[in-house]
Amino acid sequence: MERLKDYFLPESASTFASDTDGLFMFINISGGLLLLGITIALIWFSWKYKRRREDEVTPVIRHSTILEVTWTVIPLVLILFVFAWGFRGWATMRNAPADAYEVYVTGLSFGWQFTYPNGVISGTELVVPAGRPVRLIMQSRDVIHSFFVPDFRIKQDLMPNRYTTAWFEAPEPGEHVIFCTEFCGSGHSAMLGKVKVVPVAEFETWLTAEKAKTEGDLPLAELGRNVFNQQGCMACHSVDGSAGIGPTFKGLAGSQRSFTDGSSATADDNYLRESILRSNAKVVAGFAPAMPSYQGVLSDRQVDALIAFIKEQQ
Ligand code: CUA
Repeated sequence: MERLKDYFLPESASTFASDTDGLFMFINISGGLLLLGITIALIWFSWKYKRRREDEVTPVIRHSTILEVTWTVIPLVLILFVFAWGFRGWATMRNAPADAYEVYVTGLSFGWQFTYPNGVISGTELVVPAGRPVRLIMQSRDVIHSFFVPDFRIKQDLMPNRYTTAWFEAPEPGEHVIFCTEFCGSGHSAMLGKVKVVPVAEFETWLTAEKAKTEGDLPLAELGRNVFNQQGCMACHSVDGSAGIGPTFKGLAGSQRSFTDGSSATADDNYLRESILRSNAKVVAGFAPAMPSYQGVLSDRQVDALIAFIKEQQ
């Protein structure tokens, strides 16, 4: 049974994974047994009752109450059992414990952003404490995305106009992949993230260290690197010259850009600023207008920092 489960399912890393898996295996096995029984009966009867003589006539069969009650009651009981099991699991998944740690999740084309109660923003990596329930309050900055962590057996859509929630508790430290499972545009398949479950003490240390990165008197380009990581820019823009959903940052500043409308311009500070705040004002030839606007998302200092960081990538 355990071997069978490993074959079908990803690692189970949340408190409700085993219950979900139990139901999944129950449906599979009972479905498989029914299929087997019905197929054998089908073959057996078609052999047993085949026409053997030219003048053979099928007798008139009215009905069999026992048979009809049996084949109605057995599936009914099975379906109600599956419903009750599923409903219990669903109710557990919908209702987060009152003491859950809350993290805000933003989906954007094409990345994830996680905002912690102390203001820390983490791009693509959701760091959470082990053995503590975590409640996610989610929304989308643009189109519908869907947050899916197979190892946790949780999946929830993110909407642009309301909050949706999901929760989980991961008992053990480890790393688990986040997928977007709503087709959201050209970068959908690259919209990946990671849940990093760490011991509670390590989580506290991480949170404090991240807080320090967002504050104070960091040099601009260094703050820019943090913004780049936190906002998930690397989901679309590389810094090593490789092609992505968007142009690479390597050698970008100061270069001559050609746009989809046939015009061109030099990538100076104003061009970089416009590209961050009004992303699709000028779209580089060969790329789709896929970038969300960061107007109102980044502070002026963060925009300055990001430009300083891009200018360093030569
Ligand atoms: Cu976001 Cu698919």
